[in-house]
Amino acid sequence: MPNIHIPQKNKTLTVAPAENLMQALQTAGIPVASSCLGDGICSMCKMTIEGVVPLPSELELRTAARNKLSSAERLSCQITVTADLTVTTTYW
Ligand code: FES
Repeated sequence: MPNIHIPQKNKTLTVAPAENLMQALQTAGIPVASSCLGDGICSMCKMTIEGVVPLPSELELRTAARNKLSSAERLSCQITVTADLTVTTTYW
């Protein structure tokens, strides 16, 4: 079972393998900014993630480019959790 470390909240979540990162955070009561509800188009859910994550999809790459995300930022709504991660964002 992978762990999600959230240092800004001083929390660690244990989640089922292949759980969606944004949904796991929200289920634990941790707010994630979004205006597209996880469709991968608004980029408000962007986070810096340490750990092994799947490569970005074409959708995520287009959204990241359109919204000028840094190379270190990923869309949490597009991340499947498969290993231990540490996540941070600017609004926590
Ligand atoms: S919630 Fe909109 S891009 Fe992730």
